[in-house]
Amino acid sequence: MQEVITPGGALRGNVRLPGDKSISHRYGMLASVAEGTTVIRNYSSGADCHSTLGCVRTLGIGVEIDGRQVKVHGRGLRGYTAPATDLDAGNSGSTIRMLSGLLAGQHFRSRLIGDASLSQRPMQRIMGPLTQMGARLSARDGKFPPLEIEGGPLQPIDYAMPVASAQVKSCVLLAGLLAEGETTVREPATTRDHTEVALREFGVELESGRGWVKVKGPAHLEARELSVPGDLSSAAFFLVAGAIVPNSELILPGVGLNPTRATLIDFLVSCGASVEILDVKMQNGEPVGDLRVRGSRLRGGVIEKQWAAALIDEIPVLAILGAVSEQGLTVRDAAELRVKETDRIETVAANLRALGVKIETAADGFHIPGGQSFHAGSVHSHGDHRIAMAFAVAALRADGPVLIEESEAASVSFPEFWTTLRGTVG
Ligand code: S3P
Repeated sequence: MQEVITPGGALRGNVRLPGDKSISHRYGMLASVAEGTTVIRNYSSGADCHSTLGCVRTLGIGVEIDGRQVKVHGRGLRGYTAPATDLDAGNSGSTIRMLSGLLAGQHFRSRLIGDASLSQRPMQRIMGPLTQMGARLSARDGKFPPLEIEGGPLQPIDYAMPVASAQVKSCVLLAGLLAEGETTVREPATTRDHTEVALREFGVELESGRGWVKVKGPAHLEARELSVPGDLSSAAFFLVAGAIVPNSELILPGVGLNPTRATLIDFLVSCGASVEILDVKMQNGEPVGDLRVRGSRLRGGVIEKQWAAALIDEIPVLAILGAVSEQGLTVRDAAELRVKETDRIETVAANLRALGVKIETAADGFHIPGGQSFHAGSVHSHGDHRIAMAFAVAALRADGPVLIEESEAASVSFPEFWTTLRGTVG
């Protein structure tokens, strides 16, 4: 599919966001190994989170889906049945990497597959620690899906992650639930802590400190009633859109503001964006608030060191902000961009150039000079949801229509994106 976005005037209105993708995955997975029925409200409508539900169904767990409400009939840590077919993670790195932790400790073999993009993404980062814990794993060329897991009894480990990855941390913690004893994970930079927060909600006791977290197995999870906050990474597209289009004013109600994610707000404000947090409450251990963004004079900025890990999913849309800001955007220490749904350094660069914007790339980032304009033209998502949505935002500041090829990619995290965007224009 294709979408054409024609630049209009200021953006106005309320933006309804899908449920947070990271939190939905975790609630869906943890509910599947809890005792009893968990009710999850505002579950992400994104295809990725439905891949997680599809996998737990294939593992014999009852799942009822009614719009954004999901009920999962968990049967405890050992309640899965051996899957009769492959487990299809679709486009979802979170599904394949995190679920592998739970599968490593089961007494059966499973095989996880994914789409063309997922089949090119590195799995050694979870194969290493899970092998140390005693599971047997094999993958295509030793590193890519399909991933086969021969589960079995697990030993606890103390694991220092070489890359800052919340998926890897979560995978090891989930395996730790099934191991006999204390499993510790240490991270080189702070990554999102939704797994830790969600585990506590399901009644698991964790110990944690700066840069480490410890879980004791075998654990017991109790079913819960939970609500998922709005997705801050989806909000990012509207926060940047509202900031770069003059005279805009958007309200984004009920957005998840976990401090390990909310670096985005700090960065936007540091660039000069007018983003306000209107009120905050706690919901299932996660802070949630309403946001207001207004058209702003933007300076631009630098993303490096621990900010690169914290902003990794938002860098594509921040590149759009960078191009129209006064001083531009420099990104360093973000080599992980190269192993996301696409190589996001290359897909951002190719699409910016297609719209007449200059960018210099490096192995671990890029530099986009400020004060540039987007020209009418056509771009390609390359099947990457965040690239499709980032360039829809660019189109709002273009000098004519922008055609986005393979626009349906947005539905991986935000199926309502195109109608939501059109609802705020003009
Ligand atoms: C995620 C962690 C990040 C992020 C991804 C979601 C998660 O990936 O990019 O979109 O929910 O834990 P990495 O763990 O590979 O950094």
